[in-house]
Amino acid sequence: MGMGPFRLTCVWIVVLLAAVTLIVSVSHGPAWILNVKLGSRVVNDLYEHSSNKTHVRDIPQVFSNETYSRPCQGSPTSSKNISYFFRVDQSGGGDFVTVQAAVDAVPENSEQRTIIQIRAGIYEEKVLIPSNKPHITMQGAGMNATIITGNDTAARSGTEGSATVAIYADHFTAVDMGFKNIAPMPEPGELGKQAVALVICGDKAAFYDCGFYGAQDTLFDYAGRHYFKNCFIEGSIDFIFGDGRSLYEGCEIHVIAETTGSITAQARSRPEDHSGFVFMDCTIMGHGLVWLGRAWGSSSRVVFVRTFMDDIIIPAGWTDFGDSTVHNTSFYAQYKCSGPGAEAAVRVPWSYELNDDDVQQFLNMDFIDGGSWIHSTRRLIDKPEKIPGRA
Ligand SMILES: *[C@@H]1O[C@H](CO)[C@@H](O)[C@H](O)[C@H]1NC(C)=O
Ligand SMILES: *[C@@H]1O[C@H](CO)[C@@H](O)[C@H](O)[C@H]1NC(C)=O
Ligand SMILES: *[C@@H]1O[C@H](CO)[C@@H](O)[C@H](O)[C@H]1NC(C)=O
Ligand SMILES: *[C@@H]1O[C@H](CO)[C@@H](O)[C@H](O)[C@H]1NC(C)=O
Ligand SMILES: *[C@@H]1O[C@H](CO)[C@@H](O)[C@H](O)[C@H]1NC(C)=O
Ligand SMILES: *[C@@H]1O[C@H](CO)[C@@H](O)[C@H](O)[C@H]1NC(C)=O
Repeated sequence: MGMGPFRLTCVWIVVLLAAVTLIVSVSHGPAWILNVKLGSRVVNDLYEHSSNKTHVRDIPQVFSNETYSRPCQGSPTSSKNISYFFRVDQSGGGDFVTVQAAVDAVPENSEQRTIIQIRAGIYEEKVLIPSNKPHITMQGAGMNATIITGNDTAARSGTEGSATVAIYADHFTAVDMGFKNIAPMPEPGELGKQAVALVICGDKAAFYDCGFYGAQDTLFDYAGRHYFKNCFIEGSIDFIFGDGRSLYEGCEIHVIAETTGSITAQARSRPEDHSGFVFMDCTIMGHGLVWLGRAWGSSSRVVFVRTFMDDIIIPAGWTDFGDSTVHNTSFYAQYKCSGPGAEAAVRVPWSYELNDDDVQQFLNMDFIDGGSWIHSTRRLIDKPEKIPGRA
């Protein structure tokens, strides 16, 4: 279907308004997201690492043998080695009525997996999995049936602290779970309204058929290697953000921006860092107008592969957050995407349309070193121990 000159003009006016809104928001509210703490660094400082190298068209290589050092909570010490199977049922039919009580009962530093099965229901609580509780699997009854929900905001608790569910342990798995933050959606530029549904800062985590519901900053993909499969991720601004190294496969990205927003705000700060988000075979739908990404870190890296993009993507696609030096250091790309929002030719000239060779390193589990750990996230336990003192 062709576009008449009038429609075309309308489209450009909308785009222009969108851009102006965003620029005004950013310039009036640098604290909006820029001053969020990321580990020991203030994100403002990330721009200091911008290097002034030629914008070469070489595709940076991914390293498959990185060691991962935790930027958030401390590391494990002692070791017990027991596996449990816990049932959480808020109406009293299980071993625990809250999710946190079950997490508290998981043995510290176990090399064996504990399954926490959570019956259908809305669990209104904040859940923290500390770094000394690795190998936990949360098994729900469906992304819209078992939901852990909160109502905290950055103004009250800081961005990271606002998370309904915070995971600092390695080898975490969630299956058929929903994670939600119901704090009201902020107006563009409004401060302190970031409301995280889940922050993941453990390494080697996997999420299968999970839902993430919120508005600004829904999913804080803070650090570590992560796999999201068949998930539903909803939000308005920067709603998949952080310094994680993650593969999102077959996920539905659901935009609920009232005016403009951004899907990602990836925080890679140095070209030699290994973080980045790869979206493979996903769909982007919803309403509002969004950037595919904003350069939260100077070497921000995001790739969309074979992703369907509905008519809600700002044609330029990517924004530099007001710092043009990131044109030379960021890595934004797409490959064989489809849909009315997928037109690569209208993207900012400092983004890439990958060819068949260059896309290879982003196309499979190697990007997250998945071959060495992904199978264990699906493993269930054979003969779980009974809970001490319970029938
Ligand atoms: C980048 O490098 C070029 C060439 O070396 C130099 O002329 C320019 O001033 C540099 N820009 C910045 C922002 O450092
Ligand atoms: C990691 O990979 C790089 C590049 O392949 C290699 O040079 C390096 O020796 C490897 N390091 C380890 C510890 O295997
Ligand atoms: C813990 O259990 C795993 C799996 O059974 C085993 O490989 C490992 O050696 C055990 N570790 C300790 C410290 O007992
Ligand atoms: C969960 O609910 C959302 C709407 O909030 C819907 O789009 C999605 O398909 C549902 N997921 C499943 C597995 O039913
Ligand atoms: C969520 O918190 C806000 C205050 O930040 C409050 O106004 C609102 O009523 C709360 N919503 C629910 C459902 O508790
Ligand atoms: C990117 O690097 C080139 C070559 O050094 C330089 O000419 C250009 O000004 C740089 N662009 C930005 C936006 O810093």
